Amino acid sequence: MIRSNENLLTMVNMLLEVYRYEAGRKTLTFSPVNLASLTEEVMKALSPLAIDKKLALNLEKANSDQDLMIKGDRLELNRVMTNLIGNAIKFTDQGSVNIDLSKVVNHESENGSTIPTVRIEVRDTGYGIPLEEQATLFESFVQGKHKRGGSGLGLQLSQRIVHAHNGTIQIKSEVGKGSSFIVHLPIR
Ligand SMILES: Nc1ncnc2c1ncn2[C@@H]1O[C@H](COP(=O)(O)OP(=O)(O)OP(=O)(O)O)[C@@H](O)[C@H]1O
Ligand SMILES: [Mg+2]
Repeated sequence: MIRSNENLLTMVNMLLEVYRYEAGRKTLTFSPVNLASLTEEVMKALSPLAIDKKLALNLEKANSDQDLMIKGDRLELNRVMTNLIGNAIKFTDQGSVNIDLSKVVNHESENGSTIPTVRIEVRDTGYGIPLEEQATLFESFVQGKHKRGGSGLGLQLSQRIVHAHNGTIQIKSEVGKGSSFIVHLPIR
């Protein structure tokens, strides 16, 4: 009973957050965020789920923690990492979930200019996502044909948070092989 109340509360909060972003009423608090320690924190919180499913959960840092610092809203970025790593664990039954962090000095942004970013890749060896589903994945309440728990709000909110940081989020996935979510957050 406690667990289902908690699940309900999480879902309602997520829905409210989506509306807050939609209404333009969300204010972020920017401060220096160490993405390495943030990721380690989220991994630690989610590791019981991975252990339960006998999945390896690995972190690879290509740079020093100092180079993996950005200006951002730590609480909001925690939501993004929790959803991406949580999804990877939820939709993988065998193998591993790998998280790669690296600094990209010249990331080509959408308007053609190059900016320094921290790149976060969350990669799993799970079910994968069919191409036709990838296009709508970031919309509210969109879920695959699976029967796993969730409300289909996590990616919608994650995308809004990433965009509010002037970042990008992108999927690469192949059915039966796994999925990879790649986030770029500008360093400023
Ligand atoms: N790593 C992944 N591997 C396979 N499918 C995924 C992965 N991540 C997301 N998906 C698909 O995208 C859908 C939307 O993900 P999203 O995080 O928005 O919702 P959810 O995890 O189902 O629910 P919530 O995050 O609200 O608890 C999922 O239901 C699933 O079908
Ligand atoms: Mg989710």
